[in-house]
Amino acid sequence: MHSTVPFRAVILLLLTARLTFAWGTLGHETVAWIAQSYVSETTESTVKSILGSTRSDYMANVSTWADSYRYTSSGRWSAPLHYIDANDSPPSSCSVDYSRDCGEAGCSVSAIVNYTSILLDNTSGQALKNDAMKFIIHFIGDIHQPLHDEALDVGGNTINVTYDGEATNLHHIWDTEIVEQLANGAGAQEFAKNLSSAIRAGDYGWDVDSWLNGVSLNDTLSTGTGWASEANAYVCSDVLHAGVDAVEEGGDLSGTYYQAHYDVARVQIARAGYRLGAWLNLIITGRTDG
Ligand SMILES: *[C@@H]1O[C@H](CO)[C@@H](O)[C@H](O)[C@H]1NC(C)=O
Ligand SMILES: *[C@@H]1O[C@H](CO)[C@@H](O)[C@H](O)[C@H]1NC(C)=O
Ligand SMILES: *[C@@H]1O[C@H](CO)[C@@H](O)[C@H](O)[C@H]1NC(C)=O
Ligand SMILES: *[C@@H]1O[C@H](CO)[C@@H](O)[C@H](O)[C@H]1NC(C)=O
Ligand SMILES: *[C@@H]1O[C@H](CO)[C@@H](O)[C@H](O)[C@H]1NC(C)=O
Ligand SMILES: *[C@@H]1O[C@H](CO)[C@@H](O)[C@H](O)[C@H]1NC(C)=O
Ligand SMILES: [Zn+2]
Repeated sequence: MHSTVPFRAVILLLLTARLTFAWGTLGHETVAWIAQSYVSETTESTVKSILGSTRSDYMANVSTWADSYRYTSSGRWSAPLHYIDANDSPPSSCSVDYSRDCGEAGCSVSAIVNYTSILLDNTSGQALKNDAMKFIIHFIGDIHQPLHDEALDVGGNTINVTYDGEATNLHHIWDTEIVEQLANGAGAQEFAKNLSSAIRAGDYGWDVDSWLNGVSLNDTLSTGTGWASEANAYVCSDVLHAGVDAVEEGGDLSGTYYQAHYDVARVQIARAGYRLGAWLNLIITGRTDG
């Protein structure tokens, strides 16, 4: 009888460790590591100089800064920049309309436009460029997460679901649990290596050349809106394919639901990393390949 107490304490400890692991960190750091493998030497040294970093994980290291900043009192203004609230009607109709969906306080698309132009402006101060770089590294990740491009139920934050036995919400599992299940215990750097190899090999039917279609500094607004629209389309085709009730009442989502939709998380992380690398190359050298 006495032995059950320490046993339960150990279980609790393990559960706590599992629950606090990551928090969206794995996705952002993986995107950053993929991008690091696609930037040229010139881009790498310029990004390091803007960040004031000599670290080997110079991009991964700052990839979640924006998520900490938004929860500080001086950074609260930046919270709307992490998403664009598409006012569409999933699963029957998905769409992003910049003038309808980007609020007065800004959104992920306006943020990518703004911080790209700050990085392109040779009169921008060092501190401003440093923030702009950290925001770009983060927001190009966020914009590829389908539920960061959806207004319904606060981007799925109020859709209660169960995942691997835990009560959580739909937004959270797309930020974190699905990504962790996909990585299968690998850390961000290792997971990024796997995805970068898959990108180079054209695995999973990925048409990598098309990932840079329409990507241009001439029209950063349509580039950003294109990325948001592409991710938002997955809300109808996958994330909420069978409607809200189906995910709320359909049982644990780590089984059949994960199997049916994990390929969306995989391709979106790969695209985000590949595009972030190309975008930084464009800003710094004028060429997507560096
Ligand atoms: C980033 O690097 C700094 C030191 O340069 C370190 O203190 C910090 O813990 C690192 N953060 C992450 C998220 O890797
Ligand atoms: C661009 O970013 C700067 C620095 O964060 C901010 O002060 C400014 O209001 C932003 N402009 C727009 C149009 O979003
Ligand atoms: C900024 O770029 C413009 C051309 O785009 C150039 O004329 C100017 O000298 C540059 N200024 C600095 C401080 O490098
Ligand atoms: C979702 O769960 C929260 C508590 O975790 C609860 O407050 C809320 O009422 C639930 N929402 C619905 C729609 O069941
Ligand atoms: C990536 O990981 C998956 C799952 O573990 C594996 O099936 C695949 O072969 C790996 N791909 C590469 C290119 O390493
Ligand atoms: C961007 O504009 C420049 C100058 O007008 C043009 O030469 C270039 O082809 C354009 N690039 C794209 C990708 O549209
Ligand atoms: Zn974010």
